[in-house]
Amino acid sequence: MFDKSESSFPAKKNSLFLAHCAISPLQRRAKEAAQGFLEAMAAGGLSGLPPYFDLLPQFHHKCGELLHTDAENISFVHNTAEAMCLLANGYPFQPGDEIVSYIHEFPSNHYPWRLQEKRGVKLVLLGDSDPLGTLGDVAAPRGWSMEELESRVTPRTRVIALSHVQFTSGYAADLRELGAFCRERDIDLIIDGAQSLGCLPLYPEEYHVAAVAASGWKWLMGPFGSGVLYTSPALRGKVELTMVGPYCMQQGLDYLDHLWNPHADGRKFEYSTLAWEHVAALNGVLESVFLRYSMENIRAEVFRLQDLFLTHLDQDLFRVLLYPDEHRSGILTLLSRGNNDELVERVGKLGLVLTARSEYIRIAPHFYLSDDEMKGAAELLNREAGG
Ligand SMILES: Cc1ncc(COP(=O)(O)O)c(C=O)c1O
Repeated sequence: MFDKSESSFPAKKNSLFLAHCAISPLQRRAKEAAQGFLEAMAAGGLSGLPPYFDLLPQFHHKCGELLHTDAENISFVHNTAEAMCLLANGYPFQPGDEIVSYIHEFPSNHYPWRLQEKRGVKLVLLGDSDPLGTLGDVAAPRGWSMEELESRVTPRTRVIALSHVQFTSGYAADLRELGAFCRERDIDLIIDGAQSLGCLPLYPEEYHVAAVAASGWKWLMGPFGSGVLYTSPALRGKVELTMVGPYCMQQGLDYLDHLWNPHADGRKFEYSTLAWEHVAALNGVLESVFLRYSMENIRAEVFRLQDLFLTHLDQDLFRVLLYPDEHRSGILTLLSRGNNDELVERVGKLGLVLTARSEYIRIAPHFYLSDDEMKGAAELLNREAGG
């Protein structure tokens, strides 16, 4: 039922790629769409571009479909950090307000909130909790707990900023539970979706999430420098502009009209010229892959492939961190008995692409891997770790 062909996913020819949590191979249609745009630009600049004038509206619609929301709630961004800065710097914090986050967030979802300390805002960081109790004394990030979150929230908490999926441990937040918690307390829940968009269902309106920022080059298999921002109308209405240029204003191309007249929709954050070849690339991969299958089916296939991998993995050689389904993600983490970096480098030379982060080896296959490829990956790891 899934297209797993080499022609759609050409990187399959070169390696067994289980590192979609790192930098994914650019999917074929994404590459072709970007190339098409660049060729038109090279051939004639402005004169070649009219067919591309609807790239952004198309992008808004396609991402709206992916996130189960209206096109008007979507903005193109260059990366997660840019989106988080737009939100954090423009948020109407008062001195003494509080933001709750987690101690091991990826920097793109940490520093934008740290900047707010200059405005007298307190950044409260949740510690680690080991819900499985399987890690013992291993000093590795494992995820945060709802109990600690509840105990750290105060009447001054304005924002909770967390990743849907933690980039180290693979711990996935239960967004439904978290969203309900925030709704009851009138807290804005801002989610870094870089490690989930394209792998797990992510429906901000359904979960009462105020904003989602994500990169396009991980599970969406797009290019570096591409990303997506979802904002709810209520959050967007609150956030002041901190980056401005021609295109966040309603008069757009009427460059000599300097009226302060920002868009009310997601274009508010698309302040100036953007990387259109990147927009084209994301449109291409959304159309040919991520809007073709349901996100529920993609998640189920990724979990099935991970399970298959585990049935072939020698569990005497590795400790596996397997969260219950509601906290499980595209990243399956293993602890080897030896040196992870050396093992990852060794199997890399043999064509198996994995990544090591903190104490973990991360196994991050996408849905287009085959059963044989997963079995082959486990057997190669067994051989190299055992020998
Ligand atoms: C959780 C998370 N957020 C964000 C990013 C990337 O951030 P940016 O889009 O700013 O490059 C990564 C990359 O590894 C990540 O794991």
